[in-house]
Amino acid sequence: MAKRTIKDQVLQQKFEELEHKNQESLQGGGQKRIEQQHAKGKLTARERLALLLDEGSFEELGKFVMHRSKDFGLDKEYYLGDGVVTGYGTVHGRLVYVFSQDFTVFGGSLSETHAEKIVKIMDLAMKNGAPVIGLNDSGGARIQEGVVSLGGYADIFYRNTLASGVVPQISAIMGPCAGGAVYSPAITDFIFMVENTSFMFVTGPNVVKTVTHENVTAEELGGAITHSTKSGVTHFACGNEAECIQQIKKLLSYIPQNCEDEVPRQPYTAGDESRPQLNEIIPANPNQPYDMREVINGVVDGDSFFEVHKNFAENIVVGFARLAGRSIGVVGNQPASMAGVLDIDSSVKGARFVRFCDCFNIPLLVFEDVPGFLPGTDQEWNAIITNGAKLLFAFSEATVPRVTVITRKAYGGAYDVMNSKHIGADLNYAWPTAEIAVMGAKGAAEIIFKKEISEAADPEAKLNEKVDEYTRKFANPYRAAHRGYIDEVIYPDQTREKLIKAYAMLENKVATLPRKKHGNIPL
Ligand code: HXC
Repeated sequence: MAKRTIKDQVLQQKFEELEHKNQESLQGGGQKRIEQQHAKGKLTARERLALLLDEGSFEELGKFVMHRSKDFGLDKEYYLGDGVVTGYGTVHGRLVYVFSQDFTVFGGSLSETHAEKIVKIMDLAMKNGAPVIGLNDSGGARIQEGVVSLGGYADIFYRNTLASGVVPQISAIMGPCAGGAVYSPAITDFIFMVENTSFMFVTGPNVVKTVTHENVTAEELGGAITHSTKSGVTHFACGNEAECIQQIKKLLSYIPQNCEDEVPRQPYTAGDESRPQLNEIIPANPNQPYDMREVINGVVDGDSFFEVHKNFAENIVVGFARLAGRSIGVVGNQPASMAGVLDIDSSVKGARFVRFCDCFNIPLLVFEDVPGFLPGTDQEWNAIITNGAKLLFAFSEATVPRVTVITRKAYGGAYDVMNSKHIGADLNYAWPTAEIAVMGAKGAAEIIFKKEISEAADPEAKLNEKVDEYTRKFANPYRAAHRGYIDEVIYPDQTREKLIKAYAMLENKVATLPRKKHGNIPL
């Protein structure tokens, strides 16, 4: 039998026909729809990938895939690729898997085959250990296809869950994201949104009006500002798509490729690590606020601090940074917002970040200045107990190198929670300004010397005397240091040098948890 070769006329014809169709389909739903996309201030699926990936690195997979459904006119309209561009490429030379939904094809809606393409790259990402980045711009389940598109979503949700903690998963919302479709991004590690052009909600404004009679716009209900400030659903709100993609690339530079990988390291030449400006940050009055970001920026490399969840639960600051070139995750109480108190939102924000770092071997650094948990019915009735326990659980369970620096207050249960040695931190330092006690001196004196103060000839003078006594005894780091709860009391200007040495010492840390299926974090 004669061999068929690529030069065979029939084969070649088919190839050329598909290539031609593909060229047309590369334009998505056509020039008019692309113009509509641009008019909304949005880029196309391919333009986004071109910004994200290193030039020439993109390898597309599944570009000939077409939908299978024939209902409701779908037998008349076919686009190669079926509304999602999938494949792999590199960002700053490191492998990533990507999918980018094409709103110009059936509103980027998710069909059976569209879902299969996403699933394929997620499976590849898990097997080969590299991040998955999803650029979402979709009207949700492809309505004409019914349950197969719902099944397709569930296949993705399932992969998101299996991949969680195996490879980093990043979602960018660059258009609508409604209904159950929001749950795939919600399972991923980080969500980016673009102001004014993206939204996420379970039910849109029309349904809200029918059910609750509330009048609300899509932007108010589920826009980038709403989700980055009120709900905390999104970690980053970006001014436009180009900025969003730049931020994703920056985030990638701090995180490993998978759970077995080491944290990225940038070249670093040791120099003078003393930072005298840190000596000037803590105010003389212990009740006066200061910005914990000043401490963080003073300690870490150059301008390496990359804040996550910046505008949500501002009483805790979390983000990535580099110390002597190596990525670390930083958690700091923020005295400049609500005195740095721990409440529900800040506990959940902190816990989620700590768990991400622990999944991906990123050492943790905690700066502590916390007056305790926030009292009140609002907090109690909304379960500060359960939510505060999340942060406690997350730190306790973390096996990465963990170091704490107490800059000022470490009061009450919050002392325990904020990465104390008792819950497994490796090293705890305190500045001389640290106050490690069950509570503030005034509150403590009022309780334990209540009788003595009320019976005194001058109760106010007695109170002041007792406050002084309590302050001298407990509002310092030395009681804790005598017991070894604090490893060393250090001057602020020494902090950077101490931490560089500490993380170098902890570099080969091996710690394991007791054998179990998985823990039961209080959700
Ligand atoms: C099929 C869809 C579609 C969908 C949009 N299109 N959404 N086709 N299935 N889900 C098509 C439109 O028919 C239109 O095609 C084109 O995409 C562009 O849509 P427009 O409405 O013209 O665009 P715009 O005005 O920008 O509005 C975008 C939108 C709106 C807000 C997303 O299209 C919309 O509300 N779509 C439906 C959203 C929805 O209810 N989805 C199902 C959610 S439930 P033509 O050819 O006319 O230009 C869900 C379940 C998931 O997703 C379950 C997981 C558990």
